Amino acid sequence: MVVTLERIYSKEEIINTDFSNLVSIVREPNMCSGGIETIRVIIRESNLRHDASILEIGSNTGFSSLEFASTLPHAKVTGIDINKQSVAFSKAKAEEHGIKNVEFIQSDARTLPFEDHSFDLVFCSNVTSFINDRDSAISEYLRVLKPNGVLAAAPIYYREIPPFHIKKSVEEAIHSNIDVWDKSFWEETFEDHGLKPYFTEDFKYLESTREEIEQYISMVMSQEHLSTVDPDIKKAMENRLRYFYELFDKNLTYCGFSIMLYKFKPINPEPILHKSCRV
Ligand SMILES: C[S@@+](CC[C@H](N)C(=O)[O-])C[C@H]1O[C@@H](n2cnc3c(N)ncnc32)[C@H](O)[C@@H]1O
Repeated sequence: MVVTLERIYSKEEIINTDFSNLVSIVREPNMCSGGIETIRVIIRESNLRHDASILEIGSNTGFSSLEFASTLPHAKVTGIDINKQSVAFSKAKAEEHGIKNVEFIQSDARTLPFEDHSFDLVFCSNVTSFINDRDSAISEYLRVLKPNGVLAAAPIYYREIPPFHIKKSVEEAIHSNIDVWDKSFWEETFEDHGLKPYFTEDFKYLESTREEIEQYISMVMSQEHLSTVDPDIKKAMENRLRYFYELFDKNLTYCGFSIMLYKFKPINPEPILHKSCRV
């Protein structure tokens, strides 16, 4: 079943749209940093029960939630996103693939519609930086996390200071301010919320070639739901996509991301007098 576009967009709207909205219109796969490998690492390192309850914040077009749900068929996966179209598309994708242990809900990360302590794992990839009131969002992630649950984050951050014009353009593209955050920004933010890291793996990005960017654009634009779009509007979508991909690819050469797994700080402090090591 093809979910058609919600409505007809004008050229003007496409030229001025931000990245998240364009992604929801063209339905770019928009995966978390590191793609499937990131999901595998999280599943492996978080030691989940087979029937775990998993929440993804900012599930966008459903990539990570569908990956969790298909890899862990007894788990119950929920993806939330503020964008209505992304949620509708994710639902259709789950139906198309016959994945029944996932649901998608339109919600704001800052006011989650769940009871306290509902989830074994809360996953937030590249979403918290899109939310200006980040502390409220993180407090909500932790409110719905079970006391022994895992917060899995995969944030993008700067490893080198980018040129000012690139940072400025990215801020416009994502409609959020960037305070040139490095990895320690995220570490301090999560620790300030009472969390303690138990696993971290760091990555840097590799620059894409022009051909790779063009191939990716062709793949996105050849999707069936775009086949009936007016050629002029379609060209505007393609150009806007190219603008974002080239900008982000350049920006990411200054960036890295980490897979960070956190638990709540233990009740007992840990000063050890009689230390030990593995033999
Ligand atoms: C770049 S995409 C990230 C998608 C993918 N999950 C990832 O990690 O790469 C950011 C997503 O966050 C969503 N988003 C932005 N603000 C949000 C909010 N306040 N609550 C829920 N989702 C939000 C956007 O709609 C978009 O789908």
